[in-house]
Amino acid sequence: MSDFDSGFWSWWIAAVTVIGIVWCIWLLNSQKKYLKNSKEEEVTDTGHVWDGNLRELNNPIPRWWIVMYLGFCAFGLGYLVLFPGLGGYPGVLSYTSADEVEQAQAKHLASVRPLYAKFDEMTIQQIAANPEAQQIGQRLFLNNCAQCHGSDAKGSPSFPNLVEGDSQWGRTPEAIEHTIVNGRHGIMPAFTGVIDASAAADTAQYVRSLSGLAHNQLAAIKGQRTYMAQCAACHGAEGKGNKMLGAPNLTDGVWLYGSSEQRIVEAIMKGRNNQMPPQGGHLTPEQVRMLTAWVWGLSNNRPEQVASNQQDGQAK
Ligand code: HEC
Ligand code: HEC
Repeated sequence: MSDFDSGFWSWWIAAVTVIGIVWCIWLLNSQKKYLKNSKEEEVTDTGHVWDGNLRELNNPIPRWWIVMYLGFCAFGLGYLVLFPGLGGYPGVLSYTSADEVEQAQAKHLASVRPLYAKFDEMTIQQIAANPEAQQIGQRLFLNNCAQCHGSDAKGSPSFPNLVEGDSQWGRTPEAIEHTIVNGRHGIMPAFTGVIDASAAADTAQYVRSLSGLAHNQLAAIKGQRTYMAQCAACHGAEGKGNKMLGAPNLTDGVWLYGSSEQRIVEAIMKGRNNQMPPQGGHLTPEQVRMLTAWVWGLSNNRPEQVASNQQDGQAK
């Protein structure tokens, strides 16, 4: 694919490059009278004198220098014939650095393939329990995921905690693999115009009550009505969330954005829109499996968690 959007710029750059080299050769040639290294010719004096006795002479240009100069010009022309450099012309060798990277990557993948081969026959659960696989998984996580989810995988505001609490999209191996390969996009609509500020504050009090946080009971009772009418469709009548929609469990005490009334009102009035970009493009299927197992193991090594995750088996 060419980097130029019109043929003109390709020709323009090619012309400037060639004219530059031709000009260099012309320049050397124009200095002919200094090129001749003949002994007979008088070495002239430029008349410039420094410190009383340092005189500048017009000696001929040394031969080695001329050879080097022409050599560089020849090298430049040869390079431009073989490699890309003249506008959009790919060069006789059709070399591209992208090809070189691809080849290096293919070579690297071939060399690490045997490392992954022994996990091919294992289930995700078995991989998660394998110490060597845990090390590989952790390294892959640190390189590819930690910048968003944190090196301890406990997340930060708007980046989910993968260790504690309930998950948005499900923690079955299938759901995790789907998340890694395709990314996720969680959308909560804004309720401005539907819910007024005081009703939103009441609803926030009810939401806080769901996870046993301090709340105003009267406000929570009023808020419950709004919750049932506007929120239960996604977050569930009991506030346990919906893994098909990525609607978080509001009862688990783990918050993506914070549990203060202010943060909850903000979610109601402005909505939430949060996206994980797909990672499938730069990970091999083997790497995705190792990561799936590692992330699964983060929250599934506790028996009570396994029981709760089995219930979201249908979620993807
Ligand atoms: C650019 C930042 C970014 C990167 C990189 C990233 N994630 Fe995410 N991830 C997110 C965000 C944001 C969400 C929440 C999406 C939403 O709100 O639905 C998320 C969600 C998830 C979830 C679902 C959490 C749940 O509660 O259901 C899992 C699992 C996950 N990521 C794993 C990974 C793994 C494994 C990697 C590395 C291969 C990774 N992520 C790389 C930002 C990122
Ligand atoms: C259409 C479905 C939908 C409806 C309706 C909805 N939500 Fe949400 N809500 C979501 C999704 C999806 C997210 C997660 C957004 C993300 O991925 O960041 C969310 C996030 C939240 C959060 C942030 C949770 C955290 O862990 O920080 C709160 C609080 C919340 N919703 C409260 C409400 C309340 C209160 C209502 C009713 C007024 C409501 N939601 C209505 C889908 C919905």
